[in-house]
Amino acid sequence: MMPANTLENGAVDGYVGRNVELDVAADFSANALVAAAARCREAVHIFRSEPTGRIGVSFGDRVDALANDYSHVASLPGVYPEWLGSSEFLETHGVRFPYTSGAMAHGIASPRLVLAMARSELLAFYGSAGVAPSDVEANILAIQSELANTGASWGSDLIHTPHDPTIEDTLVDLYLRHQVRRVSASAFMRLTPAVVRYACTGLSLAPDGTIRRANHLFAKLSRAETARLFMAPAPAEIVSALVQRGLLSEREATLAAHVPLAGDITVEADSGGHTDNRPLTALLPALFELRAELQATHRFARAIRIGAAGGIGTPGGVAAAFGLGAAYVMTGSTNQASVEAGTSELAKEMLAAAELTDVAMAPSPDMFEMGVKVQVLKRGTMFAGRASLLRELYRAHASLEDIPAETVARIEREIFQRPLADVWAETRGFFAGRDAREVERAERDPKHKMALVFRWYIGLASHWAIQGVPGRKTDFQIWCGPAMGAFNRWAKGSFLADLPNRSVVQIALNLLEGAAVITRAQQFRSIGLPVPDAAFAYAPKPLAC
Ligand SMILES: Cc1cc2nc3c(=O)[nH]c(=O)nc-3n(C[C@H](O)[C@H](O)[C@H](O)COP(=O)(O)O)c2cc1C
Repeated sequence: MMPANTLENGAVDGYVGRNVELDVAADFSANALVAAAARCREAVHIFRSEPTGRIGVSFGDRVDALANDYSHVASLPGVYPEWLGSSEFLETHGVRFPYTSGAMAHGIASPRLVLAMARSELLAFYGSAGVAPSDVEANILAIQSELANTGASWGSDLIHTPHDPTIEDTLVDLYLRHQVRRVSASAFMRLTPAVVRYACTGLSLAPDGTIRRANHLFAKLSRAETARLFMAPAPAEIVSALVQRGLLSEREATLAAHVPLAGDITVEADSGGHTDNRPLTALLPALFELRAELQATHRFARAIRIGAAGGIGTPGGVAAAFGLGAAYVMTGSTNQASVEAGTSELAKEMLAAAELTDVAMAPSPDMFEMGVKVQVLKRGTMFAGRASLLRELYRAHASLEDIPAETVARIEREIFQRPLADVWAETRGFFAGRDAREVERAERDPKHKMALVFRWYIGLASHWAIQGVPGRKTDFQIWCGPAMGAFNRWAKGSFLADLPNRSVVQIALNLLEGAAVITRAQQFRSIGLPVPDAAFAYAPKPLAC
């Protein structure tokens, strides 16, 4: 849906009106441009009083006649949140706004969150990582039945699972069987048959000769080398192996050579969870360069859309991402504190109290042994410090027995709240029922046993947060980036400061509306107007969709 009531083009000229009285109620007050930025959706006309140099504004489709002493500086059409990103993104995905809510593992990006967004024509990805496939299937079916016959768009996550490729295969089977049309691939370091199969299934030739996708793959990444994999056509060897297994047709394989694997690339800067902590302003332009290079090589009929994620928690952040050229934005951390997020009230309260600097890097539960880190909340929880101590002990020692007795006593008391022998017994029981090879390996390799024992804590810490286990509050592992603190500071004193008002849609609409206001203010500045700083401020308010 496109907004109406706009002029075709903005005009900037030096026209000076002659011999006609100014018959319009133009505002020449000191606050005129601030008020005009706030009314960003309206066409605006800007005048200069030549004797005083003061700037005045009026609104409406008509440029009113001017008196001698006034020059017409510019007429600008409305700025709409819908238009800040790529119109092709809106058309391709059938959404109204170039804004997405990213997947959050363990169903934190819950079906409820996905549905709220979809009903407001906003795209959200269900957080399937760490969820049992049978539960993912049930949740997909629930979302689909709620949205039946609405045409609303939504997506789900496909997280790379190098330790067990069958998880990716199972999810892709589910997504294809249930026609999940949008999938966000995350944490991939190399391409797998599963992700290639999802993207290439259903490629077809339209009557006008263009290649149509049945399935839209988004790839979330933060490095050029990974981007290269997704911005190129699917590797021929993976495609032909899929054809041989009867999982792709010859026709799909042929067409796959002419399109990039992913139509949408989400470039992730300093975000909650897995992150390389890069600034968006450095990362995004580098990925645009790469896209140009690959476009020159492959001459795709449709350009790849590049969206921005990471650190976006204020209208200024949204406006900056679009100013850089992002096709769409993705938020994560801020949505974890939303009403619809599938985590505890206790965790949401802790998130709502976060300041910009209340985040830290801590060992990742899934790639603990490799030393991979995730960004987590620091305020109100000691998880980052405790998990980092475990990682340090793992690095420095060959086995649990090798750790000094007083250190073992300390971590049993302060971190595990039980003897390590009990933790191992529980861990052993867990893996015996799920993957007995892990137990065999741990009994052969004491370092692996230590990893499994330490991962007990790191793995459970996020469940304690999701369940809001009060006795484990200081161990909560809450993935969170600096966007959260930035959001809290912006929302302070407004209706969005109160958790019950933080619906994921109000967060989105306010970020977008504020970004449009800031874009308008910057537009004024870019045509040489003396724009007060206040024009760049937007306070949250309840918005209708
Ligand atoms: C609690 C939490 C869990 C997340 N889990 C996943 C995930 O499972 N898969 C994924 O692709 N991204 C995940 N992310 C990243 C988000 O989808 C999103 O890209 C990121 O949060 C955007 O950056 P921001 O946190 O600065 O807003 C997670 C983020 C958070 C905060």
